Amino acid sequence: MNVQQLEETARALFAHDKGLLAMDESTGTCNKRFEKLGIPQTFEARRAYRELLVTSPGLSESIGGAILCDETIRQQKSDGTPFIKVLIEAGIVPGIKVDAGAKELAGHPSEKVTEGLDGLRDRLHEYFQMGARFAKWRAMIAIGDGLPSWGCIEANAHALARYAALCQQAGLVPVVEPEVIMDGGHTLQQCRVVTDEVLRTVFSELFAQRVALEGMILKPNMVLSGTACASQPTLDEVADATVNCFLRAVPAAVPAIAFLSGGQSAELASAHLNAMNMRFKSRLPWVLAFSFARAIQQPALEIWKGHEANILAAQQALVHRARCNQAARRGEYSAEMEKR
Ligand code: G3H
Repeated sequence: MNVQQLEETARALFAHDKGLLAMDESTGTCNKRFEKLGIPQTFEARRAYRELLVTSPGLSESIGGAILCDETIRQQKSDGTPFIKVLIEAGIVPGIKVDAGAKELAGHPSEKVTEGLDGLRDRLHEYFQMGARFAKWRAMIAIGDGLPSWGCIEANAHALARYAALCQQAGLVPVVEPEVIMDGGHTLQQCRVVTDEVLRTVFSELFAQRVALEGMILKPNMVLSGTACASQPTLDEVADATVNCFLRAVPAAVPAIAFLSGGQSAELASAHLNAMNMRFKSRLPWVLAFSFARAIQQPALEIWKGHEANILAAQQALVHRARCNQAARRGEYSAEMEKR
């Protein structure tokens, strides 16, 4: 394992206050989002949409890495140029989602475990040869009546650690994504307690599997109350709860924490990230960045709607969101930025 190379990749992803564009939706998820907007759910529509994303002018000024899925890493622009080449030439590091999705966890009703370790070593080797330099694996932890169970947290944390170790051996920086999901009526405090337990378990498993913390990225949820909770916290309350939780559970050797958006609106995700950086940035051991999918892409997708005539406007919306999040990394985002 070449830890120095992994560290360099991790640094490059977040240099100049950039972040990650997660564009690794599975075919099923992508189709569901297309269906809601009346976009055909075809291979070609997905390809055209991903071409729109990777060719957005100016994207590399605020995006350091893009996470692809297996379908996309093998796709090309309409002129035949592979997407991976487009990204590399623009100075965006290509990454790849390598988990095989969350499946029912046996013996644990309503809980899931992420699968995909079988054959992973060979797949990582292939992706590295193709040009990918980082990877992603997402585990889902639900909060509910008696949930999450210890068995669910432990099984997911162990799989994340096994994946991360294999990635580092293959020369890929692992993005370790334990997502405590927003669905439900839980409070901010309940989310903080669960997030804390999940992170501590994940880092204990990463340690056991000898993962070099300097050569990984953590992609967690922010500490939020559930979408159905009557009491929604202020920006400052989210910033305090999230940063205080992470200061206790995430070792200082980790170079970057890149949040997922989890279903927050694009503006709210930027505002939360901004509040954290504005209040705490100068005293944190790791950078606080973004690795959003919906909170960067959704406005662009809603403008595009599958029509060629809307491509430029959709690309402008995409780059706008990426710039807002870059500003949030600096603690310089404001609602004024939304008045374009
Ligand atoms: O795995 C989830 C994505 O990478 C992040 O998606 O920002 O829409 O939650 P999201």
